[in-house]
Amino acid sequence: MKKTFLFALTLSMALMAHADDITVSTPNTTLLLNAQTGQPLRVSYYGSRVTRPAEVYDAYSLWEEAYPAFGRGCLDITALSVKHFDGNMSTELEVTGHEQTVDGNSHLFTIHMKDKVYDLNVDVCYRAWQNADVIETWQTITNNEKKPITLLQYASGFMPMRRGNVWASHMHGTWAGEAELTEEPLNEGQLVVQALNGTRNAFNNRGEMMFSLDGRPEENRGRTIGAVIEWSGNYKFRVDTRSESVHRLVVGIDEEHSAYHLAKGQSFTTPAVAFAYSTEGKGGVSRAYHRWARLNGKVHNGQALRKMLLNSWEGVYMNVNQQGMEEMMDGIKDLGGELFVMDDGWFGTKYRRTEDDKALGDWKTDTLKLPQGVPALVKAAKDRGLKFGIWIEPEMCNNRSELYDAHPEWVVCHPKRQPQTGRGGTQLVLDLSNPKVQDFVFGIVDGLMQENPELYYIKWDCNMDINTFGSSYLTADNQSHLYVDYQLGLRKVLERIRAKYPDLVIQACASGGGRVSYGVMPYFDEFWVSDNTDAVQRLFLQWSSSHFYPANAMAQHVSASPNHQTGRVIPLKFRFDVASTGRLGMEMQPKHFSPQEREFAIKAIQTYKDVIRPIVQLGDLYRILSPYDHTGYSSQVYINEQKTEGVFFAYKYIHYINMPKPRFHFAGLNPNATYTLTELNRQAQGRAHWEGKQFTGKFLMDDGIELDLGGQYGSIVISLRQQ
Ligand code: DGJ
Repeated sequence: MKKTFLFALTLSMALMAHADDITVSTPNTTLLLNAQTGQPLRVSYYGSRVTRPAEVYDAYSLWEEAYPAFGRGCLDITALSVKHFDGNMSTELEVTGHEQTVDGNSHLFTIHMKDKVYDLNVDVCYRAWQNADVIETWQTITNNEKKPITLLQYASGFMPMRRGNVWASHMHGTWAGEAELTEEPLNEGQLVVQALNGTRNAFNNRGEMMFSLDGRPEENRGRTIGAVIEWSGNYKFRVDTRSESVHRLVVGIDEEHSAYHLAKGQSFTTPAVAFAYSTEGKGGVSRAYHRWARLNGKVHNGQALRKMLLNSWEGVYMNVNQQGMEEMMDGIKDLGGELFVMDDGWFGTKYRRTEDDKALGDWKTDTLKLPQGVPALVKAAKDRGLKFGIWIEPEMCNNRSELYDAHPEWVVCHPKRQPQTGRGGTQLVLDLSNPKVQDFVFGIVDGLMQENPELYYIKWDCNMDINTFGSSYLTADNQSHLYVDYQLGLRKVLERIRAKYPDLVIQACASGGGRVSYGVMPYFDEFWVSDNTDAVQRLFLQWSSSHFYPANAMAQHVSASPNHQTGRVIPLKFRFDVASTGRLGMEMQPKHFSPQEREFAIKAIQTYKDVIRPIVQLGDLYRILSPYDHTGYSSQVYINEQKTEGVFFAYKYIHYINMPKPRFHFAGLNPNATYTLTELNRQAQGRAHWEGKQFTGKFLMDDGIELDLGGQYGSIVISLRQQ
């Protein structure tokens, strides 16, 4: 009885609401808000673009608070919780006004809210991108009360989703096994995805989710919502399901152990959450994020093609020296590469980086290994027509370092505790909440660049978590700021670096894929997908990472066989074909290639640069056969914006007798166009039956073609060109 009454009341309020509607629209989507003065901000709709908001209400809609605060209606999930200056823990926000501006490629909506009694101001902002179907939301919370207040919860975004058969897709994992995709229906209760890592937040649980509103997730059909947090610190996604009509999603900084104090007059701006919506399934949401990231600086220099490189790590590990590095440069030059990156092992004088237990923090060249220092390497690369890159891990030190000897108070740890060490039994995290540490970290990059103005690339590693909480820098009252202030300190450093060195290419690495996060990607050109370079596991890792990140941000390297992580033996063609769906690189000793392998690699790199790179790195991705379906097959296609050229990839990663053989369908093509198919990276004798033949886009998508992938680790790459 009571439930029916409440439902009727909710609907009748919804029906009345047309004044003060705010239509936040991208080219194909709309978020409908209601900002009536004196009332809470409401959200009634998120879906395909609407031009007549009345339709939403006439059809009956959701009518949820868009930024729910704790203290009234205490049973529901909240986004904000404040302890006011006098100890009152309840907040009641009402709209006081709103405005809209055009800001470059986006429309910016600001809704001003204030507590009914306290001088707590909250501006809730929405940015609707006009070049991608993504809407970001964040808040600026300002304390205009008489004394300090405490933010106990300060999430960034709230999104109600109508109940039905809604499924969540999310990713979890560990070192060398990151981003394992999990898909499950949303049932009653709470689903929580949370990062507790402190420094790098994508290692175990990724800060991105998708919600398939029409049942089991599909790649290219079904209404789907994406949610992404633009924060590289601890975060929390909570989906709360208890009512018959709605799932409530709250996304933001994880408030646990992070109560944040605001002095009188001080503001805190929450990181943005980026929502995407598509009727074209998970693939449609992925394409929206890829476009948004590339076009709007959400990945640094997102519209640039990335160079083909050789990284020294799996080739020599820490045994770097002048001769060895030059030998590797010769190797990659002969194969047609463009960039050589020297990884870990090049630095430390008093403590030498011969093992991973010392010298982090001492960014002076080890002149026993490299007598002429980094400048000689930059020159050696230049002499060969290559660019040069270098590895650093600037946020860290070892307790066996000159830095730690001089500044033990610079590491993350409460002065009354002993820090727990990480890698090598000696690694520690530098306390980036401390401005002196920020200057030091900036100085590492600045120093390298001053000495080597032609340094092209930096691999920025981060191999440790915050695992002994506390700071010598933060005051006793503000110890709970550490998780947040570490990240704000990191951001300040990265902003300084980007202001001075906008063209420096920087890779985000964190023991592999620990920093795959839109919190840092505006400052980084690419991320290292994983320390696992096994091509079969990479199929899975790259598939899941591609849900949110564009191909030119994904660093994918061909490595040795047997693979160093799994011991698996995989043919070179399969390794190249798997790595070619992102920023192709190598991570091995080129001199170990047989003459046949060398010949294949030269052609594959040339093909990548000429044909594959522009389409894969800047085109639209359509995932087709998922490796997560465990059929033994996987396929995907990349198409340029005009749909005139594409590159299709198919893989077979297991093999057994009488294994079902799928017909391979394409996606994303122009149905009316005719395409010529050409095989790339072919190794088999003769020509495939479809080689050089023409097919309409409609036929390729509806009926597909037979592909003979052979036995285990067979792969085929096909170029499509419109006639
Ligand atoms: C961890 C990274 O993920 C590796 O690629 C390599 O750079 C090592 N660190 C070097 O110590």
